[in-house]
Amino acid sequence: MSTEDFPEGAKTDFSADMSYGDYLHLDRVLNAQEPRSQDHNEMLFIIQHQTSELWIKLMLHELRAAVRCIAADELGNAFKMLARVSRILEQLVHAWDVLSTLTPSEYSNMRPSLGSSSGFQSYQYREVEFLLGNKNSNMLRPHRDAPEALARLHLALAAPSLYDESLRLLERRGFSLLARKAPQSYVYQSSESVEKAWLEIYRHPEKYWDLYQLAEELIDLEDAFRQWRFRHVTTVERIIGFKPGTGGTAGVSYLRKMLDVVLFPELWKVRTDL
Ligand code: HEM
Repeated sequence: MSTEDFPEGAKTDFSADMSYGDYLHLDRVLNAQEPRSQDHNEMLFIIQHQTSELWIKLMLHELRAAVRCIAADELGNAFKMLARVSRILEQLVHAWDVLSTLTPSEYSNMRPSLGSSSGFQSYQYREVEFLLGNKNSNMLRPHRDAPEALARLHLALAAPSLYDESLRLLERRGFSLLARKAPQSYVYQSSESVEKAWLEIYRHPEKYWDLYQLAEELIDLEDAFRQWRFRHVTTVERIIGFKPGTGGTAGVSYLRKMLDVVLFPELWKVRTDL
């Protein structure tokens, strides 16, 4: 076929049918980029954030469903969804390569356009954190004036996290786990009984194969999430050094603290015990 031939049979009349653009609402998606300056690099900044938010939207969709599946003892389905979330995170890890083509001088030129907007205010990201069990209720504060986002975050804060549901599953399978939550707090407290349960599972994978697989899916996910956080802070240091963030935090030092967050603590501890 020469470059000038048109593929035979390809549909060209969409007066009565749905086209690709209709189905995907590309009119809305592709018109949602509105740079506030003439700066060439602002488009990269906007698209990098928008695409990240879209992938985070899919992560939420998969994670919520995975939590429901675990609660319903449908582990096969949950594994499929958790594997997808890890792959999405890996993709977001690689996406930092595109953003790191932005130099400090280029960023400084477009910095005024950003005002005080920052990923720190991403309600979807915060919902992912809450779903994964990193429940810091102070993080509701940036959403005080956004009732819909706030309502979603309150729900996610109060709902059982992915790890909570995994531990409930362990209990249904006969492991006895002691009270796991500190009173009046959403923050997960690690416990010896949970560590013991995972240890038993890791020592006898053939006996507890699906729980063992669940543990590895969770580790995969946290591993990928850690890499995302690490690439974020490194990219940020590369671009803005130790300047404060647009969201008002100290910047790199705040993000470095976030590297210490552990989502599934006993699953990491058990590796030392084995
Ligand atoms: C040049 C690019 C970027 C810079 C300089 C940057 C810088 C920062 C800084 C300094 C913070 C701390 C909060 C603040 O004071 O603003 C932050 C938080 C955050 N950023 Fe970025 N960022 C960049 C790109 C991105 C992208 C592409 C995403 C993707 C969604 C993102 C998502 C986030 C999230 C979710 C937080 C909150 C992290 C947490 O609280 O644990 N950032 N960013």
